[in-house]
Amino acid sequence: MIYARIKVLTVLVAIATLFVPLVTAQNQWSWPEEPENLKVLPAHTKGSELGRVMRGFASSLGVRCQHCHVGNGPDLSTFDFVSDEKSTKLKARVMIEMVMAIQKDHLSKLTALESEPQVRVELTCMTCHRGQPRPIMLDDMLAETIEDEGIDAAIAQYHELRDEHYGGFAYDFGPGTLTGLGESLGNDGNYEIVIQILNLEIEVNGESSSIYYTLGGVQMQAELVEDAISSLEKGLELAQDGFKPFFQRRLDRLRN
Ligand code: HEC
Ligand code: HEC
Repeated sequence: MIYARIKVLTVLVAIATLFVPLVTAQNQWSWPEEPENLKVLPAHTKGSELGRVMRGFASSLGVRCQHCHVGNGPDLSTFDFVSDEKSTKLKARVMIEMVMAIQKDHLSKLTALESEPQVRVELTCMTCHRGQPRPIMLDDMLAETIEDEGIDAAIAQYHELRDEHYGGFAYDFGPGTLTGLGESLGNDGNYEIVIQILNLEIEVNGESSSIYYTLGGVQMQAELVEDAISSLEKGLELAQDGFKPFFQRRLDRLRN
């Protein structure tokens, strides 16, 4: 049991070496050797080890200490770390228990199913959160914004997120995310919105035969014949020989 808990802690802090931009008045405050209110972390988590765990939380969620703790500013001696006032701290406790349970009750079972036991992948806060407080996927976030505020707000949000996070791993800006979102929205017949999403995909990720095939298909469904022909012609030009007949067939249908 003790071994399992130590192992879990290693897992929780596996990402803790990442740099956290944190201005602290180091000389006025130090990590407690006797934490007063640990309910889920192992009892031996104190001092510099507690520091590694907490910095790991902060970097995994892309936040500072005050996201979960009562306090503000660079001087940590003014914080009340013992307090359970913030719901984010309470939620973090549930998360710590969840990670421990996944490790202990589920991932560990995989070993028994392997003829040659593999080294287990370590599940950490970072695995899911990827530097975000709320680990939502880019397409789900845009879908939420479309629902709440409309397509223009969602397009503006995409550009803002891309400017800020491109090259990081919080969001997948590569080709496919917007196309996937478009396809899922297309099922509800929101053709106008889908066309804007697919045009955004072309704008940020460039032209490809497959994106023009998808766009042409949606424009056909929306009965925008001229637009569909134009998209499919562009796609036909970019397509490899083996795929050209698919474009040709749709074009023939539209022109007749
Ligand atoms: C994602 C939320 C989260 C973030 C961010 C976070 N903490 Fe914590 N912290 C917790 C939780 C949850 C506990 C209690 C763990 C438990 O109950 O076992 C805790 C406990 C502590 C304690 C022990 C307090 C006591 O005496 O019981 C200290 C000290 C602390 N954190 C400092 C920090 C510092 C400094 C930072 C910024 C580098 C930080 N934390 C960032 C969630 C967080
Ligand atoms: C298996 C994936 C996964 C792992 C691992 C994980 N989380 Fe989460 N976490 C989530 C999801 C999903 C949500 C959002 C739940 C919701 O709001 O519906 C969430 C929400 C949270 C929230 C609340 C966010 C808010 O503002 O409401 C906190 C705090 C949090 N996680 C901290 C942590 C910490 C600390 C760890 C590591 C000990 C961790 N999480 C590990 C998936 C994960």
